[in-house]
Amino acid sequence: MQLIQIESRSAKPFLKWVGGKQQLLDQFALLFPAHFHSYHEPFLGGGAVYFHLWSSNQITGAAYLSDLNEELVDTYLAVRNRVDDVIAILRKHEANHSHDYYYHVRAADRKMHQLTQVEKAARLIYLNRTCYNGLYRVNRKGQFNVPIGSYQAPKIVFEDTLRAASRALQPANLHIRKFESVLDYAQAGDFIYFDPPYVPISKTASFTSYTLDSFSDENQHQLAEVFGELSRRGCYCMLSNSYSPLTLNLYRDYRIETVRAIRAVNSNGGARGAINEVVVLNY
Ligand SMILES: C[S@@+](CC[C@H](N)C(=O)[O-])C[C@H]1O[C@@H](n2cnc3c(N)ncnc32)[C@H](O)[C@@H]1O
Repeated sequence: MQLIQIESRSAKPFLKWVGGKQQLLDQFALLFPAHFHSYHEPFLGGGAVYFHLWSSNQITGAAYLSDLNEELVDTYLAVRNRVDDVIAILRKHEANHSHDYYYHVRAADRKMHQLTQVEKAARLIYLNRTCYNGLYRVNRKGQFNVPIGSYQAPKIVFEDTLRAASRALQPANLHIRKFESVLDYAQAGDFIYFDPPYVPISKTASFTSYTLDSFSDENQHQLAEVFGELSRRGCYCMLSNSYSPLTLNLYRDYRIETVRAIRAVNSNGGARGAINEVVVLNY
C-alpha cells in the first residue's frame, strides 16, 4: 500500500515544451519557499514546476494553473478528466503512425470544431511526440504547421506519465487566461511561479510564437508590474527569464539568482549549449 502511494506521487510533464523547466528542478529546489498557501502558475507550458511541487507534497492548498494557449489548456483538461480515452486514441495514432498519417492528423485542425476535447488532446500529444523538436507553432489561422521530425520509431503512448499527470491534475484549477489575471486570485502567503516567454538574447534566438500573439517588451514590463503588485500584497514570487539587460533592469530591486540551463542556441532548435538563466525572487 505504502509503495503504491509513493509511486502515485511522481508526476512529470507529458509534453515537450520550449523552455521546459524539468532540467532545472534540482537548482530550483533550493529556491522554492518553504511554505505557502495556494500555488499559481500563469505560464503553464509543460508544467514541470507544478508536477514537481505536487510530487514532493509541497502543494497543500489550492493550485491555479493557466496559460493563454487554448489547445494546451484543453489538453490538460482532457488528461485530467478523461485520461483513459486520451490513451485509447493515442494508441490508434501510435499504430497508424507514418509520414502520411502525421500530415493527415496535422491537417485535422482545418475542421477542429468537429473534434471532441479528447480527440484534440490526443492529436496535440501525438503531434508533440512526432513533430520536429517537439515545437508548438501555429500559423495566423491557428493551424499547427511544424513538419514531421526525423525519429525512427517515436514512442507515442507514455501511459504511466499520462496517468500520473492525470492524478496530479485532479486538485488543480485549469484556465485559459492571460498572466495578469493572477492579480484577481492571488492572496498574501500564496506562491506564484512565472515562466514567461523569455526576453530574446539575440535576434536569431527570438522564438516567441507559442501563441498567435508574441510576447513583447511591453508585456515584459507589464509582467514586472504584476510581480511588484503581488510582492506588495505579501505573495511569494519567483520568475524565470533570460540573462538579458532588460530582465536585470526590470527586477533590479529583487534578489536575482543565476542557474545553468542546456538550451537550443539558435532559432531552429538544432544546436544546444549551456547558458545562464535568471531566477528572480522577492523573498
Ligand atoms: C516558457 S513557456 C513555459 C514553460 C513551462 N514552465 C515548462 O516548464 O514547460 C511560456 C508559456 O507562456 C504562454 N504564454 C505566452 N503569452 C502568454 C500570456 N500573455 N499570458 C499567459 N500565458 C502566455 C505560452 O503559451 C507558453 O506555454
